[in-house]
Amino acid sequence: MKKILVTGGAGYIGSCTVIELHKAGYTPVIVDNFSNSDKSVMARLEKVLGFSPKLYAIDCNDKEKLDAVFELENDIAGVIHFAAHKAVGESVQKPNMYYYNNVNSLLVLLDVMQKHGVKNIVFSSSCTVYGQPDALPVTEETPEKTAESPYGFTKQICERILKDQKQTGQNFFKTVLLRYFNPVGAHESGIIGELPLGVPNNLVPYIALVASGKLPMLTVFGDDYNTPDGSCIRDYIHVCDLALAHIQSLQWLDKAPENACEVFNIGVGKGETVLGCIHTFEKVNGVKVPLKIGARRSGDIEKIYADNQKALQELGWKPKYTLADAMQSVWKWQQFIDEQIHNKKP
Ligand code: UD1
Repeated sequence: MKKILVTGGAGYIGSCTVIELHKAGYTPVIVDNFSNSDKSVMARLEKVLGFSPKLYAIDCNDKEKLDAVFELENDIAGVIHFAAHKAVGESVQKPNMYYYNNVNSLLVLLDVMQKHGVKNIVFSSSCTVYGQPDALPVTEETPEKTAESPYGFTKQICERILKDQKQTGQNFFKTVLLRYFNPVGAHESGIIGELPLGVPNNLVPYIALVASGKLPMLTVFGDDYNTPDGSCIRDYIHVCDLALAHIQSLQWLDKAPENACEVFNIGVGKGETVLGCIHTFEKVNGVKVPLKIGARRSGDIEKIYADNQKALQELGWKPKYTLADAMQSVWKWQQFIDEQIHNKKP
């Protein structure tokens, strides 16, 4: 069983990927500092997996501690690097926190991986690197625009750092950069999903909290965009489909040439409006989501969705869940966290 180190493995996408890794015959080892995840995820992972995955509760910026993990786990076959801050608005308020955490942790990780002879890395990038593209759908060749936020810039910098490894002539790392579109949904068990600390910034967890009465109303940020119903368009990808793309990336890396470094878009390849998402949620779950139309959110782009052909053809990846599936799983998950987690908190 190949051992894979999963930084941020207690987070939203990380925890779903830990499950998929186990299913695919890998042994996941989690590194997480719990800065944006709830410790209860470990017990819930144990329930789904039937065993408790190995956890190192450390910060990836701590080189000594990370080095010690690689020393102890001396046969790591690859790394999936999720650990990063990801709130666009917060990054505008605290840019250095984002540059330090997201960029520095990658540099530390690369040093430690090289020291221990671990070559394969799958990196969490984002469609944010495209900014507002001139043409849709975006392919991996679509030119990047200036990042709208420090968060977006950290993803561009990290991509550049990983691509630059190829130029060193050492041919050491083999890299897959996955550009996620908008991850949504929860694991089918109903006990693993997105658990934002505090009021969520992202659309789908906000919809679920409004539907469950924990928040009074959803504000749709703008209905005057140039789209069919005036609200923004995104490409919403089920988190379990996204998780699977990491497994297929590891398998792709095994066969890839020495200095491989490839970018893949991971989205369904179809756009949906904000209002469309809300209506899907209401329809599949039979609940109302009170909403009002508000002003545009600064930094938002009008529309983006993926051309996912490269991932389909080269990774052999194919999304199998629909937006309706994702919305159903989110509601099941919301009901679980309302009962098990929120109600227990003071
Ligand atoms: C942003 C980032 C993305 C990042 C993701 C993770 C950009 C351009 N995108 O995605 O890279 O991976 O956050 O945090 O930087 N909306 C509402 N009301 C709400 C919340 C959201 O109308 O209360 C709308 C937004 O205006 C947007 C859509 O819903 O049109 C999706 O928003 P959100 O879930 O925050 O994701 P992005 O901003 O697309």
